[in-house]
Amino acid sequence: MPQRLGIAVIGAGMAGRAHASAWRAAPTVGSGELPDLELVSICDLAGDLAAATAARYGFSRHDTDWQDIVDAPDIDIVSVVVANSLHKEIVEALLAAGKHVLCEKPLTDTVDDARAMVAAAEKSDSIARLGFTYRRAPGLAAIRDFIQDGTLGEVHHVNAWYWTDYACSPTAPMSWRYKGELGSGALADVGSHLTDTVEFLAGPISSVSGGRFHTAITERPLPLGHVVGHDHVEVSDEFEPVGNDDYAGFGVEFPTGSGILQVSRIAAGHPNSLGVEVFCANGSASFDFRFPGQIVLNQSIDGHAATGLTTIQLGPEHPYIADGLAMAAPGVGVGQNDGFTFQARAFLDEVAGRPEAESLPRCAQFSEGLHALEVRDAVIASATDNGSAKEVAA
Ligand SMILES: NC(=O)c1ccc[n+]([C@@H]2O[C@H](COP(=O)([O-])OP(=O)(O)OC[C@H]3O[C@@H](n4cnc5c(N)ncnc54)[C@H](O)[C@@H]3O)[C@@H](O)[C@H]2O)c1
Repeated sequence: MPQRLGIAVIGAGMAGRAHASAWRAAPTVGSGELPDLELVSICDLAGDLAAATAARYGFSRHDTDWQDIVDAPDIDIVSVVVANSLHKEIVEALLAAGKHVLCEKPLTDTVDDARAMVAAAEKSDSIARLGFTYRRAPGLAAIRDFIQDGTLGEVHHVNAWYWTDYACSPTAPMSWRYKGELGSGALADVGSHLTDTVEFLAGPISSVSGGRFHTAITERPLPLGHVVGHDHVEVSDEFEPVGNDDYAGFGVEFPTGSGILQVSRIAAGHPNSLGVEVFCANGSASFDFRFPGQIVLNQSIDGHAATGLTTIQLGPEHPYIADGLAMAAPGVGVGQNDGFTFQARAFLDEVAGRPEAESLPRCAQFSEGLHALEVRDAVIASATDNGSAKEVAA
């Protein structure tokens, strides 16, 4: 095990702050020894934001050029939390310099770039992992346990959605999120989480059909200040066209069944509702991120509803909560930010060389990020061919 690990975050925006906070909290969750951790630098083009984020989360310094993170001898681990199109260049440079990399989802913008990143990760001796944080939601992990231990059994069909409303307002300023072709909008942004969630529960998606997109707001005003995440800032009267999707819907086939998935960034009144219902051999279950501390189970016996809908408050007997929450009692609640902390701890366990059996479940591989983009491309192909079925590239 290394004696010391220096940590940096590139990108101090919405998710960058979640990474900064997670590295700070990671040693407080999970169990077992870790190397000494040093929170070294927060890097962002916006120097004031980088400095403020470093100060808030206890990092020793800030940088404005990611190349300085690549070159820094006191940094071993780096979160890459900038716009998707920037991931490849930064990740490849970090891996070449021997840094361990935790890259945000989606892996990048295109399947070709994702393949190159998988190759760079395979060539490197460093750990390269992807931030599919929703796998760390205790409710989703609990449903997966119920599927795998036979309580629910194999998944026959799925209904899944990810409703967000960050783009509802026509005055929400233009940002990197609205640039690119159909499929790079809601589908890449929140859809990458949703396809991963469905695959986490039901297994790999082999084909998609019925692909469709809708863009309701076709131009957006340019911001007059720095935009972080979904924030609104003062805008100019100059507009730029929106190229990508506000909404996407599609059907999926997975090894034991099929389902319907929909994602939106204009689902008015739903700031952050990822939800999934799984219908399985021995019952059904559902989870909705509006109520992250609970799941709903409905077990059947011989095909008849036996228990009815039962709401289960998550507690220490469910994944992540014991050893994961400071107050690990039923009903205390768990939130999206906790997922980033569990993820950071899992990454540290792996870098420290702790066996998987003694650590939190490993983070997603880059190859899973490539697969997610192949699913996305199949949706795009389906949508541009009148919704016909398309295989997901192997
Ligand atoms: N896992 C999750 O739940 C989750 C949530 C939100 C975002 N994300 C992902 O995180 C990434 C960032 O999203 P966000 O919402 O935080 O974006 P953001 O726009 O809020 O922040 C990005 C930051 O990167 C900075 N930046 C841009 N170019 C840079 C450069 N060359 N060097 C250094 N900094 C630079 C910007 O100044 C900005 O502050 C995306 O890949 C997104 O998909 C993941």
